[in-house]
Formats: sequence, structure tokens, C-alpha cells
Amino acid sequence: MSIQWFPGHMNAARKEAAKTMEVIDVIVEVLDARIPDASVNPLIEELRLVRQRPCLKVLNKADLADPAVTQAWLNLYNRQPDVSAVALSCSQAGDAAKIPQLCQALAPHRNSSVKPLRMLIMGIPNVGKSTLMNRLLNRRIARVGDEPAVTKVQQRHKLNDHMAITDSPGLLWGTIKDPNVGLLLATVNAVGHKVVDDETVAEFLAAILLARYPARLTARYGFAVEGLTSSDVLDAIAKKRGCLLTRSGGGLDRDKAARILLLDYRNGTLGRTSLETPEPSPDEPPQ
Ligand code: G4P
Repeated sequence: MSIQWFPGHMNAARKEAAKTMEVIDVIVEVLDARIPDASVNPLIEELRLVRQRPCLKVLNKADLADPAVTQAWLNLYNRQPDVSAVALSCSQAGDAAKIPQLCQALAPHRNSSVKPLRMLIMGIPNVGKSTLMNRLLNRRIARVGDEPAVTKVQQRHKLNDHMAITDSPGLLWGTIKDPNVGLLLATVNAVGHKVVDDETVAEFLAAILLARYPARLTARYGFAVEGLTSSDVLDAIAKKRGCLLTRSGGGLDRDKAARILLLDYRNGTLGRTSLETPEPSPDEPPQ
């Protein structure tokens, strides 16, 4: 399965982002802390390397991710040249305020009204760019929504007389060739609903939860997970929650069970879970 998803405005956004990158100093790349690698947009990386711009990687929604795994990602990114990384929850007041200082450290020469620090917020849809922007500006200028691709027009704002920030529309690459990446993005709701069906995504999520956080399933839904496959998990949720089809002789409504699991995951009811862990670096002792 490869996910094809490139709404028209995203093409225009790519061109605009390339142009904007010529006149900015630091890129603020917003990632989803639960899937930091899958939520990297290779186009952003390509554009920034061409223009040789430093990057602050913001692992947002850290309140939903496993703290130990998030720390491992921060360690990895903070070792990369011209990159610094921070874990935040933009939905919590105060967290976003750390960003201007961290960006300033990446471009210390830009710190006056003559040479203001120019930051560009980028990231795939639904990672929290609008929320971050609203926090930084302390007002509601960017529309926030849980549907991907809500922000559509690039906007530039003055933070103070020596700092400005521009946000850009959610930018996804045209075809996501790696099915695993596509499913990770769908799990956190970064690709539109119509692209992948809920049952496929929920089974993918159930497999990760069975492997890494099985006790969370038992605690939430009240069934034992020993011997269950990811497909069995949907049946077990359907049984526990009484999800039955009205037609087809009253069989299990797996689609409804899938939506229950995805909603519980996305809003944090299943606890803080990371779906990706970084490869251990060769110079790090095994854990
Ligand atoms: P985008 O511009 O990158 O597309 O993302 P946006 O800010 O619209 O945020 C998408 C959803 O993610 C919003 O949820 C927002 O509140 C939520 N969000 C942003 N940052 C965080 C965070 O640090 N932690 C958590 N848990 N959620 C975050 P929503 O339900 O659609 O909107 P709302 O009802 O919360 O306003």
C-alpha cells in the first residue's frame, strides 16, 4: 500500500516554502513526538540543506508520547550538525515560549532590529503548527483543527522588534512509498480520513500496542491479550463494547471497534505511547 495524498494547495505551498527559505534564518520543524521519524518531511530536509539553514526540531505532543523514547530521539537529533531538538506540548501554556531562545542560539548573528531573527515554522499537517503559532503570538491567528491541511496560506508575524516568525501550510510529500510510514501518519491522523480505512490503521496500531504496551489494552478494555493477533484485538473490543452490525446477522462491527481504538489512542486515553523508537547509535551502550 502506498498513500497518494497531495492536495493542490500543497504544491503551491512547496514552491512558496522554497522561496521563503531564501529569506529566513532558522527552520522550526514541528514533528509529532510519537512518530518523530515518520513525521519528518524529506522535502523540508532537502530544501533546508540546499539553503544551509539550521533547524530546531520540535517534538510536539510530547504529552502523548513515551518520555523515555522521546529522550532517546532528542539525544539522536541533538548530535546532528546544525540541529537542535526540544520536546514540547504546545497545548500547554508556557511550553512554546522556549522556542525563540533556542532558535536564537542557532543563529546568534541575527539579533537586532536591523538584522532580526527570521524563523519559519514547517511540518506535516496536524502536528500542531497552528497551536504553536497561537502560543508564540499569544493570540488566536491560526485556525486549529484536528483535520489535516487546515492552514492554507503562509503568514508572517512580528514577535518583537528583533524576531519574526512565518508559518507555512502543512506540507506532505506526494507519494508516501513506505507503507509503514503511511500507516504511522494515519494512526496519528496526519493524513486525510479518506486515504486509508480505519480498520487497517487500527489493526496496525493494535500490533504495535500488543508488542510494546499490551497492559494498556487490558487496562482500557478489560480483556487478556495473551495469544491475540492484532485482528483479534478489534474483535475483542467489539465484543466488550457491544459493537454489533445491524445488518449481516448481527456480526461484530469491526469498523466501529477500530474507531474506538483510534480515538482512544489519538486523545491519549491509552496512555503515553511512542510508535517509533530510534535505532541505537553505535557509540551508545545497549539498554
Ligand atoms: P497543524 O496546524 O499542524 O495542522 O495542527 P493544529 O495546530 O491544528 O493541531 C492539530 C490538533 O493537535 C489540535 O487538536 C490541537 O489542539 C492538537 N495539539 C496541538 N499541540 C498539541 C500538544 O502538544 N498536545 C496535544 N495533546 N495536542 C496538541 P484539535 O482537537 O483538533 O483541536 P482543539 O479542539 O484542541 O482546538
